[in-house]
Amino acid sequence: MTGGLVNVRYELPGPRSKQLFERWSHVEAQCAGYQAKVVWEKALGVMVTDVDGNTFLDWTSGVLVTNVGHCHPDLVKAIQRACEKLLNNYECLTEARVEAAEKLISVLPAHLDKCFFFSTGSEATEAALRVMKRKSGKFEIISFYGAFHGRTYAALSAGGLPGPKKGYGPTVPGSIRVPYPNCYRCPLRAKPETCDFLCLDYLDDAVRANSTGSLAGVIVEPYQGAAGFIFPPEGWLSRLEEWIRSHNLLFTLDEVQSSFGRTGKFFAMEWEGLTPDVVCIGKGIGSGVPASAIAARGEVLAVLKSGDMSSTMGGNPVASEAVVAVVDIMRRERLEENALRIGRIMKDRLREMMGKSSHIGDVRGMGLVMGVELVKDKTTKEPAPELAKKLIDLAAQHGLLIGAVGTFGNVIRVAPPLVISEEQAEESLDIFERALDQL
Ligand SMILES: Cc1ncc(COP(=O)(O)O)c(C=O)c1O
Repeated sequence: MTGGLVNVRYELPGPRSKQLFERWSHVEAQCAGYQAKVVWEKALGVMVTDVDGNTFLDWTSGVLVTNVGHCHPDLVKAIQRACEKLLNNYECLTEARVEAAEKLISVLPAHLDKCFFFSTGSEATEAALRVMKRKSGKFEIISFYGAFHGRTYAALSAGGLPGPKKGYGPTVPGSIRVPYPNCYRCPLRAKPETCDFLCLDYLDDAVRANSTGSLAGVIVEPYQGAAGFIFPPEGWLSRLEEWIRSHNLLFTLDEVQSSFGRTGKFFAMEWEGLTPDVVCIGKGIGSGVPASAIAARGEVLAVLKSGDMSSTMGGNPVASEAVVAVVDIMRRERLEENALRIGRIMKDRLREMMGKSSHIGDVRGMGLVMGVELVKDKTTKEPAPELAKKLIDLAAQHGLLIGAVGTFGNVIRVAPPLVISEEQAEESLDIFERALDQL
């Protein structure tokens, strides 16, 4: 496919990509999820070039990572400057680390006045779980069906997807899982128009049946990404917070993927004015440089004493400079506003496609994070993971990179870098529609 912004000259995988896939199969575990048959070479903004010289529009942002656009020149310069000075000094203080912490605190809601840096989202969620346990002196954690908090042990134990746990059990004791409001596939078979958040009533039953009186807190995502972009109905998170407060529990919001402008606000918690005790931040905060953090009320993080928490790579000078640069870019380029504006355009067109296509069961999302759920039949809602794979290949062949996630692997992830222009959005939607028509 050539013309417009993209140019795919070869049937995928192209010749060089094919060679590299072959070499790779001999030397690294083949455990990645299903991906387009493309070997990335470089990327700028929303455009990706593969090793065969094909160019694509990107709806993945890696995996919701490169929020400020691939290789934003100001981010690249900041990292280059940092690399020339100092790469790692563990916990010893640098000016860059102080500035990164100040920057992060400056964009967080006022009650979250302290933070701590790590490198990955899983490290941040593990730390949040530990902080809730240390602060409360208790060990039980409430989490949700479909939740994904990472692949390290406590994080996967709190998770509500079987995939990351398969073959690794038993998991960490003390996890109590309750239904998340998946209104397209309600686990309680309720209707969103009339349910009055029935799943929250279920919380009390779950606690009565499962808790030994050692509840520390609740960890929840503002929307569930890995489960297939499940967005709770408006007001649900506020009602959950009320429940948490009425039970005197600690509240962790896992914003590893929902923060840094993704939903159209800097943090998703801003939509309902939530006041979690701990927030986990990852992905977009480094926009490609491994960086993550927890932020919390100072009084909560005061439970950590000297030597209680550290990370070999967390807060390193390069990551710290990246955090400063990313916040500055986000502010200067008003990327949350762009996410809202372009997100609206994209969602409207995707919903139009849903009306016409027999394969799209649901389109949902906010800002620049949306899920397109593929089904075999719109009435039975039987998931269509094979169609998702086919669509990934077709879209790539036409010049658009997409991925699929979800409990059933049937939800197309629509999450371009937040710098996407209207022209890029429209062209990517044209490509998506063309691929959809060929399913
Ligand atoms: C909500 C959420 N929490 C935690 C993680 C884990 O982050 P990482 O893969 O950086 O460890 C992810 C990753 O997708 C995530 O989406």
